[in-house]
Amino acid sequence: MKEKISFLKNRIDLISPNKNIVPITTVIDSNEKLNIGGCSIEDLVRKYDSPLYILDEITLRNSCRAYKKALEKYYPGVSLPIYASKANSSLFMSNLVASEGFGLDAVSEGELLTALKGGVPNEKIVFHGNNKSDKEIEFAIKNQIKVIVDNDHDLSRLEEISDSLKFDLEIMIRFTPGIECHTHDYIRTGSFDSKFGFGIESLNKLFGVIIKTKHLKLIGLHAHIGSQIFELDPHKDLGEIMVNVMLQAKEFGHNIKELNVGGGLGIKYTQEDDPPSIDEWIKTVSESVKEACKKNKLDLPVLMCEPGRSIVSTAGVTIYKIGSFKEIPGIRTYLSVDGGMSDNPRPITYQSNYSACLVNNPLSCNSKNKYTVAGKHCESGDVLFKELELGNCKTGDLICVFGTGAYNNSMSSNYNRIPKPAALLVSNGEAEIIQKRESPHDLLKYDVLPDRFIKQS
Ligand SMILES: Cc1ncc(COP(=O)(O)O)c(C=O)c1O
Repeated sequence: MKEKISFLKNRIDLISPNKNIVPITTVIDSNEKLNIGGCSIEDLVRKYDSPLYILDEITLRNSCRAYKKALEKYYPGVSLPIYASKANSSLFMSNLVASEGFGLDAVSEGELLTALKGGVPNEKIVFHGNNKSDKEIEFAIKNQIKVIVDNDHDLSRLEEISDSLKFDLEIMIRFTPGIECHTHDYIRTGSFDSKFGFGIESLNKLFGVIIKTKHLKLIGLHAHIGSQIFELDPHKDLGEIMVNVMLQAKEFGHNIKELNVGGGLGIKYTQEDDPPSIDEWIKTVSESVKEACKKNKLDLPVLMCEPGRSIVSTAGVTIYKIGSFKEIPGIRTYLSVDGGMSDNPRPITYQSNYSACLVNNPLSCNSKNKYTVAGKHCESGDVLFKELELGNCKTGDLICVFGTGAYNNSMSSNYNRIPKPAALLVSNGEAEIIQKRESPHDLLKYDVLPDRFIKQS
C-alpha cells in the first residue's frame, strides 16, 4: 500500500512546515534510506545510539520565518511572535527562537532560566502560570520579566511582592474568552471551564482592583483557546472579543498596549490532518484585531501570538530500534521498540496519532504487515501505534516517527528509570548534540540513602 507512505514523497510545503508530516529536508537517499538535514539517519544512530530525538534546523527556521513574514504582511510594525517553550524547552531552542527575533513564554523558573541563559532578552519573555510560587514571582520581578496574571491569588502575591521589593511591574491578564476548541470543532460558551485565567464576567471588578495597586501596571491582555486547532473561525472570534475587553479596560483607565492571542495552530501528524497554513492563521487574527480596533476607533495594540507546536513539532523526529516481536494469532502482532511512553507520553495520555516509516527502507509498506508498536515500559498501555503498516522488518531495524518535536522531549519522564534520549540538531549534513543522553547512573544523582541505612547494609 504505497499510498500509505506517500507523505514521504508528496510535494513538501516549504513555507508552512506545519502542513507537512516530515521535516522539509527529508529525502530518500540514493541507497533508498532516510536522510534528514543532509544526514543519514542510520549513520546517526550508529554514532549516537537510540532512541534518538532529532531536530531539523531548516524546518525550525522556516516555521519561525513564516510567522514573522505573515505578521509583517498582515500586521506591519507592531507585533511580536512568542515561542511557547513548553513545547520543547532547551538552551538550543531558546537561542534559536531568539535569533529569529521571537520572544518566549515560560511557565516556571526552570523555563525562565533556560530562556535567559539561552539568550532570549528579558523584555521579550512573558511568565505564565496558574500557581506561580513566590520564589518564581520574585525571580521574574528581579529579571524584569512581564508577568501574565492568571487569578486572584496570583494578583495578590504579585501585589505584595512588588510592594515589598518596591519594583514596578508590567502585567498582562489572562482571561477565558468563552471559546472552547477541539481539534475539529469549537463552541462559544458563556463561561469556560478551565483552570487557567479569569472568567470574562469577573473582568470589570478586576480592572477596578488593578488600577488601585501601587506597583502593578496593566499593559496587556492574554487568551489561549486550545491546541492542535484546525479551524480559523475561533481565532477570528477571539480577536474581536479581545478588542472588546481592551475597550472595557479603557473605561477603568487602563491603557492596553498589547494583545496576546495565544497559540494553538494545528500541525499535520497524519495524512488525515489538514491544518491551515501559518500565513492563513496570522491573516485571520490580524484582520480580526484590525477590524475591531477600526470599528471602536482604538489605536492598534502590539499583536503577540504564542505558537509552540507549529514551530517545533514537524522539525522533530524520534528514531527507535526494533527489538522483540510477539504474534498473537488472529489478533495482532506486537513489535517492541527501545523507547515509548517515557520519551513520548502523548499516545498514552491523549491517544495521539503519528506517522512513521522504516529508516532503511522508508518507502516500503506492506498491508499484511500491520504492527502494534509497543514501548518497552512496564505498562500495557505503552503503545505508540495501535496499527502501523510497515514493510518487511526485523529486530535491529530502525523506525522513524515524525512530528515528535513538540510535547515529547519536554513531557518526557524517567518512568521505569529509563534514561532520556540524546537530542541532535541536523543541518547541512552536520549533526550536533543539543541534549546529552542520560545514563542509568545519572538517574541516581538525586537519590539519597540516609546514613543509618548505609550503616545497616
Ligand atoms: C498559554 C499557552 N500559550 C501557548 C501555547 C502553545 O500552544 P500550541 O503549542 O498549540 O501552539 C499553550 C499550549 O498549551 C498555552 O497553554
